[in-house]
Amino acid sequence: MSQQSPFKKLEEALAENYGWAANPSARAKINTAIESKARRLHIAHEEYCQIASGSHSEMLALVEEAAVGETWFFREPQQFSALRRIILPAIAAARPAGERRRLWSAACSTGEEAYSLAIVVDQARTANEPGAIESAEVFATDVRNRALLAASQARYSLPALRQVDAHTRDKYFIHTCETPDDPLNGVYTVVPDSRKLVTFRRANLLDPMFWKGMSRRFDLIVCANLLLYLHGSAVRQMVGRLTQSLRPGGYLMVAPSESSLIHHSGLRPVKDAPTFFQRTN
Ligand SMILES: C[S@@+](CC[C@H](N)C(=O)[O-])C[C@H]1O[C@@H](n2cnc3c(N)ncnc32)[C@H](O)[C@@H]1O
Repeated sequence: MSQQSPFKKLEEALAENYGWAANPSARAKINTAIESKARRLHIAHEEYCQIASGSHSEMLALVEEAAVGETWFFREPQQFSALRRIILPAIAAARPAGERRRLWSAACSTGEEAYSLAIVVDQARTANEPGAIESAEVFATDVRNRALLAASQARYSLPALRQVDAHTRDKYFIHTCETPDDPLNGVYTVVPDSRKLVTFRRANLLDPMFWKGMSRRFDLIVCANLLLYLHGSAVRQMVGRLTQSLRPGGYLMVAPSESSLIHHSGLRPVKDAPTFFQRTN
């Protein structure tokens, strides 16, 4: 009988515990992280794989390095525009004005998506648009502690703001710069009023314990650029749990490349707002 390689064993443990699909690009990133971990511990690649596949804490340490965390503010501008024009007005109209609306950025990485939601909510409210929501909160989760630490500091450099127009940048970010000859450089910190709306928490979305008490909580869940890294059964499980976590009539937003992965009898696509799905029951 052929023995499973230590790398294969680790890949299977990552698939089981975190839902990660084994594909060539994921494999390349995981391999780089393993090389660097093994080098730091002065052990062989295979030995590191053995250790990590049998230890939850070492596997999490590897996840911290191997996950794709790329993100930026208003990543898909047309989605945020549909959110403001179509989805927020529907969310605002669905219940009495004073009731708090709950939004969730489910794989928030370093926080740009969660703060983008907070900013859009504030823009609709201050412009007194049909999507004005009096009271809202943004819950934001990710599996990586290091990303969440950066998220809670809310300090960004210009590349993260590449889709942010100058007016929004001036209104929602405090710019500090130590190089006066290059005034656009420096640090952009999200303003306190928008930071106050967001709460970060560490969560492995593949952990069934996490989902306890989450049923029917959210008016909007944004789960973008996570499903495409997961294997088929993790996607199905995740879409089912996300759907359960929406209020009836609530909305799920995924990345444009993930729309084709959404098949659930309790969700229907939203007319004129591609990548948004509404919970039907
Ligand atoms: C590419 S980022 C997406 C960031 C943002 N949603 C966006 O679309 O720009 C994917 C994030 O998913 C997180 N992630 C991966 N597996 C996860 C899991 N099992 N539970 C929670 N988060 C996970 C990673 O840590 C990473 O920050």
